[in-house]
Amino acid sequence: MTQANGSVQIGERTVDLPIMKGTMGADVIDMRTLATQTGVYSFDPGFLSTASCESRITYLDGAAGILLHRGYPIEQLAEKGDYLEVCYLLLYGELPTAAQKADFDYRVTHHTMVHEQMARFFQGFRRDAHPMSIMVASVGALSAFYHDSTDINDPMQRMIASMRLIAKAPTLAAMAYKYSLGQPFVYPRNDLDYASNFLRMCFAVPAEEYVVNPVFARALDRIFILHADLAQVASTSTVRLAGSSGADPFACIAAGIASLWGPAHGGANEAVLKMLSEIGAPERIPHFISRAKDKSDPFRLMGFGHRIFKNYDPRAKIMQRTAHDVFEQLGVSDPLLDVAHELERVALSDDYFVKRRLFPNVDFYSGLILRAMGFPTSMFPALFAVARTVGWLAQWKEMIEDPNYRMGHPSQLYTGAEQRDYTPVSMR
Ligand code: ACO
Repeated sequence: MTQANGSVQIGERTVDLPIMKGTMGADVIDMRTLATQTGVYSFDPGFLSTASCESRITYLDGAAGILLHRGYPIEQLAEKGDYLEVCYLLLYGELPTAAQKADFDYRVTHHTMVHEQMARFFQGFRRDAHPMSIMVASVGALSAFYHDSTDINDPMQRMIASMRLIAKAPTLAAMAYKYSLGQPFVYPRNDLDYASNFLRMCFAVPAEEYVVNPVFARALDRIFILHADLAQVASTSTVRLAGSSGADPFACIAAGIASLWGPAHGGANEAVLKMLSEIGAPERIPHFISRAKDKSDPFRLMGFGHRIFKNYDPRAKIMQRTAHDVFEQLGVSDPLLDVAHELERVALSDDYFVKRRLFPNVDFYSGLILRAMGFPTSMFPALFAVARTVGWLAQWKEMIEDPNYRMGHPSQLYTGAEQRDYTPVSMR
């Protein structure tokens, strides 16, 4: 990072503020001394013009449709790597050697079991609880079970907590699913890879042998890679803010899951599938396209548009190819895939969507793949949470290790009542 000088004019005053340059992307103006120098704060709800931190993990250029993790394009990672390799890359900054990879895979695999008392903890939930509410609660509860990895100032404990969270998130998500069905929990198996293990924990039953479908395992691994990190989005910023007070990593990741749950963020793939089912057949598409364009109708094309990607989201293209692979290799068809294709074709040739640079996002096809695997829509955000756990951890760890990190404490523009005197209730 290099610096140059910038200045800001506030009324009659000119204040010198350094301009910081990253390795790629937009420069930032360093506002840290603005309030002390001038008594004036910057105002930026939703952080539309604010870089909240310095980071070396993920770079994205929404206009060009570029997403890099530690410099590596997402297309190459998804095509040639596997999810645990990407986890290592995000956490440590470099791709692992063969020996490092074998060691990392071994360590994550051997942390997949959860404390047996967790099974009893689950009995407190209603059977119809949403998997995300179980994820928020059970991931948060891990700090009650693993006291030996909650000291955030000890690098070894930080790493053990990270291993535990990456390893146990799929176990807890699978338990949430099994609990909703009233089926027994399935323990993890150390001879299976990460995605295969997860599929088995979700779909195996003790009454018969379960053979993992390799096409599903590869597709799920790819979905995990594509959702592993996306810089400072709402859930990641939530994790950083929660962690900035020194909260333990299990609590911070639970906060991230809570933020991810919202329909504008992690709930979108659930919404895409509902929309495709509602459309039902290609001939009904024109009606829904005109509804999406009608400003008096709240309906939007779910899975279209992105706050950052104003070009084709590179992850959406990989997801589209993966959906094809899955359906072709398994020889199955889903009428909703035909609806999705036609909808994409029609929208991308419609002036309304072209002008506003609305392209399919990563969630447009992922729901169809997950549905083909047998997941109910309510599980979609839980799978997203499993995949994003590593991104949250990498960002949390980077923050704790940054010597310049301060507790997050945004200011505000106060527009409430001025000071006034209390009146007793009998006089109001
Ligand atoms: N369908 C129809 N019109 C849309 C859509 C859509 N999906 N998305 C945006 N627009 C229109 C808006 O109405 C607006 O039109 P206007 O300029 O005439 O008023 C214009 O495009 C810009 O939209 P904004 O909402 O201002 O764009 P923003 O960047 O804030 O929104 C968002 C991004 C929230 C993702 C939006 O595109 C959307 O609601 N998409 C559908 C939901 C979705 O798929 N979310 C998943 C995002 S990916 C993720 O989080 C993993």
